[in-house]
Amino acid sequence: MSSQPVIPARPEQLEAILLVGGQGTRLRPLTISTPKPLLPTAGVPFLAHQLAKAAAAGVTRVVLATSYRAAMFSECLGDGSAFGLEIVYVQEDTPLGTGGAIRNAAQALHSAPASPVIVLNGDVLSGHDLAAQLDLHSKMDAAVTLHLVEVPDPARFGCVPTDTDGRVTAFLEKTPHPVTNRINAGCYVFRRSVIDVIKPGVVTSVERETFPGLIDAGEVVMGYPDTSYWLDVGTPEAFVQGSCDLVLGRLHSPALRASGVPGEMLVLEGARVDPAARVTGGTVVGAGCLIEAGAQVAGSVLFDGVRIGAGAQVSASVLGCGVQIGESAVLERAVIGDGARVATGNELRAGMRLWPGVDLGPTSVRFSTDV
Ligand code: GTP
Repeated sequence: MSSQPVIPARPEQLEAILLVGGQGTRLRPLTISTPKPLLPTAGVPFLAHQLAKAAAAGVTRVVLATSYRAAMFSECLGDGSAFGLEIVYVQEDTPLGTGGAIRNAAQALHSAPASPVIVLNGDVLSGHDLAAQLDLHSKMDAAVTLHLVEVPDPARFGCVPTDTDGRVTAFLEKTPHPVTNRINAGCYVFRRSVIDVIKPGVVTSVERETFPGLIDAGEVVMGYPDTSYWLDVGTPEAFVQGSCDLVLGRLHSPALRASGVPGEMLVLEGARVDPAARVTGGTVVGAGCLIEAGAQVAGSVLFDGVRIGAGAQVSASVLGCGVQIGESAVLERAVIGDGARVATGNELRAGMRLWPGVDLGPTSVRFSTDV
């Protein structure tokens, strides 16, 4: 008879810390007014996907580690009951880095020293099995268990080699010749007592300081490798990709109950798409948007109140609230800040960004539906 490994029972209250205090500089100008974890993604704030995933894995209580635009989080997410969770908020006066933020958030945890605590970066979409990562952590009685993903271009990241038992052996900085294509995916299970020994109030990086320190001290740091969907939405290209993938159904999110998903487009409340317009590629058309006849919008994210004029072409772009795009304008991989206007006939390509409120002339914006 084969003996099954004994997996310790989960604590009654499973807690998670979500790191959401970063400034999201790579996503400017979108993050000037809204922190990255609250940007609308497939029609809901980005964090809704992570909160729903955490709840589905058995998490009951979440500590949000905030810093940049901290007040917006509680205004948007409240006490968490909409997600079947209790959410509490901890704010850093000055950003403490990933390790310092986790240590600072620990003051609000209820978990016992030996209990597992999940830590998530607030900008990752992942289809991996969080409950299985927790089980591995408990089975191995690890200090920390890290989700690892395989990427085709590991030279762009630091890589994380493991031994034959799955124990992490090092955290290697970026190098042109990485020894593995596995990288840190930004989702950890910590033994709570391991968080408590991080120095309080000091800027600390888990990747550069805490994890290598644990390995040097001979602690069990496990890798949980996985090949399911994974995306860090930190850049405009990845942000648009993540939203489109959710709408197209390439990644299932328990936060998406909207009709129309999966589909070529997700049209939110009060938006109008002219029957002679073409909207494809998992585009989100935000609440109250208007897309006129002959316009083509592919694989893009339109926040609320955007207007796209007749015959305009928009692809792989993200348009902030209230943006106006004139007739026949062309946008390709563009990032347009809230309230900006692109006049008829302009072309913005190759990652161009317009800051909020910019009025790109010289001609005025025309719409065929204007009176
Ligand atoms: P960029 O400025 O574009 O690099 O984005 P970012 O500020 O979000 O940094 P990064 O993508 O490296 O951060 C990964 C995750 O950790 C994000 O969810 C951030 O919100 C979070 N984060 C980064 N630094 C801090 C910090 O000092 N405090 C807190 N609470 N969270 C942080």
